[in-house]
Amino acid sequence: MVGYVFYLDRFNGNLRGLLEKLDYLEELGVTYVHLMPCLKPRPGDSDGGYSVMDYRQINPALGTMGDLETVAAALRQRGMSLCVDLVLNHTAKEHDWAQRARAGVAPYTDYYWMFTDRREPDAFETTLVEIFPAHAPGNFTWYEDAGRWVWTTFNEHQWDLNWTNPQVMIEIIDVMLFLANRGVGVVRLDAVAFMWKRLGTRCQNEPEVHQILHALRAASRIAAPALIHKEEAIVSPQDLIPYLGSGIHTGKEGNLAYHNSLMVQFWSALATRSTKLMTHVLASHFPKNFVNATWATYLRCHDDIGWAITDEDAGALGISGPAHRNFLAEFYTGSFPGSFARGDLFQSNPLTGDKRNSGSLASLAGLESALEAGDDRAEATAIQRILMGHALIASFGGVPLIYMGDELGLLNDLSYLEDDHHKHDSRWMHRPKFDWVKAERRAAPGTIEAQLFGGIRHILTRRKAMPGFHADAPTELLQTETDGIFAFRRTGPIQPVVALFNFTENWLAVPRSWAAAVGVRDFVDHLSQGHVDTPNDVIALPPYARVWLT
Ligand code: GLC
Ligand code: GLC
Repeated sequence: MVGYVFYLDRFNGNLRGLLEKLDYLEELGVTYVHLMPCLKPRPGDSDGGYSVMDYRQINPALGTMGDLETVAAALRQRGMSLCVDLVLNHTAKEHDWAQRARAGVAPYTDYYWMFTDRREPDAFETTLVEIFPAHAPGNFTWYEDAGRWVWTTFNEHQWDLNWTNPQVMIEIIDVMLFLANRGVGVVRLDAVAFMWKRLGTRCQNEPEVHQILHALRAASRIAAPALIHKEEAIVSPQDLIPYLGSGIHTGKEGNLAYHNSLMVQFWSALATRSTKLMTHVLASHFPKNFVNATWATYLRCHDDIGWAITDEDAGALGISGPAHRNFLAEFYTGSFPGSFARGDLFQSNPLTGDKRNSGSLASLAGLESALEAGDDRAEATAIQRILMGHALIASFGGVPLIYMGDELGLLNDLSYLEDDHHKHDSRWMHRPKFDWVKAERRAAPGTIEAQLFGGIRHILTRRKAMPGFHADAPTELLQTETDGIFAFRRTGPIQPVVALFNFTENWLAVPRSWAAAVGVRDFVDHLSQGHVDTPNDVIALPPYARVWLT
């Protein structure tokens, strides 16, 4: 499986427009299509569609429920899965339930978290964090007409649902099965970490969240057993694992979850040219595989990058956590001396020192600065960085997700600053309109587009040919002794595959004896489909090399 993630309006207008572009997706190797939020959003700013006012209607700008069913059928014919967002932590304040709750109508007043005074909100606020401190500070909003404070973790217009109310669960299960009946194959359960509130905690990843998700999965197993649950939890490694099932939830919770740590460590290692922290984190916190579940691997998505590296992990390598996170934020805005990246900050919080970043894959990886400088060598290097990343997410284990336009090297798009509904949110800089003129250039050898699109397609084709990359094949991290090289072994049914990645712009070497000791026998690289020579008894790895060795 290979996923592709995109906004319908920004890709080719609407649902009908998508039908015209299925050949394009098939050419790339895509078998799973995630339509960014397409259910009816509130008018005006809707947090990119994550503020839903009607779960049973398609956003009229994108088409109708009938169009969605047509798309689902067309995808099915090509062996492609349809993934749709199910936002279940909150609804838009314009949702029918919320409007009734606001008017004081039972039972809807129990669908949300509403308070007549500040006592409880104040008590909760002592331990809550702010998700959008810059444009939506605090976690509660006062509504004069209702005479109530309402829990609004994200934006003011996104009202948190009260999952202690069993009626909420029944409503959402009903919506979930409604979508499955329209032909949706994967539900992306948005912001699940926040579903349960407990005084004195951050109100994230509470045990009840897993019980609810377990119950949702049981419901679809009974009524729509092919439905895949993808859980969006951008949390620390320890908190993330239960979403794919551990302990009593093994094999029973999410089927897919974003590998946020792999993504963060990819960018961290690119900036530092050191793979020690990456290897340490991925080796010490994650199981080698899951039961009935796997990762969604990715390099970029529609959201910001939060530098989720703990002080303990940084400390284990003698690095200061706050200093390293601050360095990464500065590096990926491009302000750190020598940085190849072009990006921006997202929601920096002066109180906590927390800084996150926005930026497209290509711009963060150095393509924008190379083009700006007219530097051919830097351009070639940026392309190698990007392809190395794609080879990483294709082989690490799980379903790689390609974010719209990354296969063509789309750069940061600053036009969001002219849009009143978007200018407060720098995540829009990496949500560019798809560029079909650039897409045409994928057929012109030597262009950036041809190198990236062709390179990614090649990686995906080779991946498909490797039984060792099946999601059931464990991923074991390997220590290489050569800093700058990241390595793991996949032990599939036939023979182990050892994947090596050079995170630097220098040639690096790995001893032949090391490779033999971790199971490399015939010294074939299945990515370039060539024999790897080992003069001087070393495997020589060019800048940003990636090899899949048996
Ligand atoms: C998820 C989405 C993000 C959105 C948030 C609130 O994290 O990915 O874009 O802002 O949920 O719905
Ligand atoms: C998500 C994540 C957070 C992200 C936010 C909006 O739920 O928890 O990391 O910044 O929503 O993008």
